[in-house]
Amino acid sequence: MTIIQDFLPDTLFAGKTVFVTGGGSGINLGVARNFAALGANVAICGRTQEKLDAAAGELRELNAHVAGSRVLPVAADVRDYAAMESALARTRDEVGAVDVMVAGAAGNFLCPAEQLSSNGFRTVVEIDLLGAFHASRVAFEQLKSTRGVLIYITAPQSFVPQAFQVHVGAAKAGIDMLMKNLALEWGPHGIRANGISPGPIAGTEGMKRLSNEQADQQAKAAIPLRGYGSVNDIGQAAVFLASPLATYITGTVLSVDGGLSLIGSALWNEQVRQMAGKPRG
Ligand code: HXC
Ligand code: NAP
Repeated sequence: MTIIQDFLPDTLFAGKTVFVTGGGSGINLGVARNFAALGANVAICGRTQEKLDAAAGELRELNAHVAGSRVLPVAADVRDYAAMESALARTRDEVGAVDVMVAGAAGNFLCPAEQLSSNGFRTVVEIDLLGAFHASRVAFEQLKSTRGVLIYITAPQSFVPQAFQVHVGAAKAGIDMLMKNLALEWGPHGIRANGISPGPIAGTEGMKRLSNEQADQQAKAAIPLRGYGSVNDIGQAAVFLASPLATYITGTVLSVDGGLSLIGSALWNEQVRQMAGKPRG
């Protein structure tokens, strides 16, 4: 597995502060780990303090090589604007003004559109899209002061429709457009905004909810690069987008999906119908 410190200086982000929503687990924790390994101060939020505390322990080991480096695990629901304001104020006061905001918190489940309740649709849109707006809005003044970077964790569902994912497709498509609008409006402040669209990432909650063993095998054989990605693949892409290597990149979505989005969603649609006991017919 690629270890980022083998390729980039382990102090590349020393003195910088990275805030990751949903950073207590999975892909977002993978993103936080890659920044910490390069010396960043890291703040993570989520709804579960114990999960954040466990993740923070790991992150502290990763950035310990930089004297005075900090890690802040702060419980906050991204749907709650006041909670996010207070999390960002604590981050500024205890860690430092945010240089990189990663909006990664999300919720997902498979559900046929005709069975999805209004509240089910709203819940995912509020966590993913409203939560991404809150993260951006509360970080604005800090990002303006640091000429910082916004990174949104989106998904192929934002531009490839997929069965039983109407709520997720709508939310993630909204995130892509939010990102482009903010890249346009906040570019003059020196703030860059980009998205990362992960394909199927091994060992994550997302894939646990969207796939099973049989679907995994078929998907791995069909994806152009043959196989699933790792959380480090997404962490490395985030580091690139936040680094001095990407200073003229804004308003883009970087697919890190092994080519999955090139082949459409037909394979998944059949698989999820079978998973839900609804074979095509
Ligand atoms: C249908 C469901 C449902 C399901 C919940 N709901 N689960 N409907 N099928 N499986 C409905 C509920 O019935 C309710 O509507 C509404 O959604 C809100 O449910 P709550 O449980 O009250 O919501 P909440 O406690 O806020 O939890 C949010 C959640 C939950 C999204 C439902 O699953 C969660 O906390 N998820 C976070 C972790 C997660 O999902 N990780 C995966 C991210 S991966 P009613 O009408 O009954 O009130 C990802 C992958 C993208 O996003 C792409 C991959 C390729
Ligand atoms: P995950 O581990 O469940 O990550 C989601 C995180 O968001 C959790 O830490 C969760 O913590 C947090 N969260 C959920 N609701 C929240 C809320 N209301 N407020 C604050 N935090 C909240 O799942 P994952 O699979 O790694 O997904 C991470 C990101 O990658 C998501 O944006 C997802 O859409 C995207 N993605 C994943 C895949 C994949 O293959 N897994 C593919 C494409 C895109 P709490 O529950 O403790 O709050």
